[in-house]
Amino acid sequence: MKNKNIQAVVLAAGQAKRFKTGRTKLLEPLCGREMVLYGTKLLEELGIETTLVVGHQKNEVIETVKKHHHDTVNFVHQEKLLGTGDAVCCTKKLWNKKNILILNGDMPLVTKEIIEQLYTQHKTNNATISFVTAHLDYTHHSYGRVVQKDGITQIVEAKDFTEDPHDHLWINAGIYLMDRKFLEQNSHLIDNSNASQEFYLTDLVGMASKQGHTVVTVPAPYDRVRGVNTLEELWRAEQVKRSDLIRFWMQNGVRFVKAQNVHLHVDVSIGAGSCIGGGVYLEGNTTIGKNCTIREYTRLENATLGDNVFIRSHCVVTDSTVRDNAEVGPYAHVRNKSIVDHHASIGNFVELKKSFVGQQSKARHLAYIGDTTVGKNVNIGAGTVTCNFNGVTKNETVIGDNTQIGSNNTLIAPVTVAQNAFTAAGSTITEHVPEHCLAFGRARQVNKENYVPKLLGKLNKEKTTTLPKSKKRKKIEL
Ligand code: UD1
Ligand code: CA
Repeated sequence: MKNKNIQAVVLAAGQAKRFKTGRTKLLEPLCGREMVLYGTKLLEELGIETTLVVGHQKNEVIETVKKHHHDTVNFVHQEKLLGTGDAVCCTKKLWNKKNILILNGDMPLVTKEIIEQLYTQHKTNNATISFVTAHLDYTHHSYGRVVQKDGITQIVEAKDFTEDPHDHLWINAGIYLMDRKFLEQNSHLIDNSNASQEFYLTDLVGMASKQGHTVVTVPAPYDRVRGVNTLEELWRAEQVKRSDLIRFWMQNGVRFVKAQNVHLHVDVSIGAGSCIGGGVYLEGNTTIGKNCTIREYTRLENATLGDNVFIRSHCVVTDSTVRDNAEVGPYAHVRNKSIVDHHASIGNFVELKKSFVGQQSKARHLAYIGDTTVGKNVNIGAGTVTCNFNGVTKNETVIGDNTQIGSNNTLIAPVTVAQNAFTAAGSTITEHVPEHCLAFGRARQVNKENYVPKLLGKLNKEKTTTLPKSKKRKKIEL
């Protein structure tokens, strides 16, 4: 839409009292994205210069917005939170375009099409104020109602509304396009003589209408403009967003076994032919290739999966990569920049931390592999632990191609096992294992023939002679 005639003001200063969390609602994530960013990103997409009004927790809000927009968004501080009318007035100095687009910061589901439609209607009707409305037949709500009587259009806030709610089922969505000149001449006339004793931005609609200016209402589906004032409304809005995302991926060939029970973030991408189980969390910048299977109750956060990857149930994969045809889980934890290479297999109760596991290699049972490079075709036995931390520093383990690490090994890092070497089960490996070598790092077993009866005799004798009478155990009758 790249429009030189519009600049936007997003209202994000409020205290979010109805959230009752003590924090600003604008930083609450919705499908992994902070609420305030839905508005700023939409405006960026539309090429509209944006000013954000900040107040409550302003530093945190500014920091979050800057992370995503660098210096392209302006910030204006509303010192006292006196209402939406006051919030807009705080930005006065920055007004220089023909039209000012004003958006509440708490409506994360608004689409580009709604803004475009608003602009088209505004322009076509040569309006002074155009604002978005929605039909809502639930009568007890906190929205401002559109009241049209005797040719005058007004917005009456819920707290000030005294008429029969059934007669006024259109609400004000909180998106307005206003002529700058009208704003300059009238915004200071808003007063706070109302039930909330706040300066209502919405009063401008009645003022414009009464002055004979053209006021246009632009209807939109309620689901796209619902506001978020409470945690329940956040939950509802997130369900709508999540449904949108799931619908999108379904249309692109992704199967969701239990779609109603999947958590999906906005920046996740999923390849065609993949199947996502129930209770799965796909978060952050997770990318899933084609034909992958993610079984139930797995969480992937900033994970990169190649094609044909199989993640079994109850796994956690964070900030890591699992390449084509590899398999992980059940109950595996892959984290901190680990890489599971092509066709590798990570099994149950295995943790990988900052480690590389080469092609076709396997660690299938109960292992901790940390700060380790594992070559190709390696088998890591059950119960193996790389001891990477000596209490002060982290140290590395290198395991060469085609090695076999026996079960229940402890590899005390820094240590290397060269390629084609074997280590015996139960070994504690403290030194380099050369190529083709079989390393035993355990005490040799000694069998003492017929020693058990002798031992028992000895122990029983000791028991009767060495214990003082008073301390002799009483015979227990069974
Ligand atoms: C507002 C509208 C209401 C509309 C509804 C749509 C007013 C008076 N009412 O009510 O007609 O139906 O939105 O969702 O505008 N904010 C500030 N500074 C303030 C007060 C609020 O920046 O002093 C910000 C809030 O952070 C929020 C936005 O303005 O993002 C809207 O404020 P909110 O209190 O949620 O208004 P509603 O009661 O929902
Ligand atoms: Ca609101």
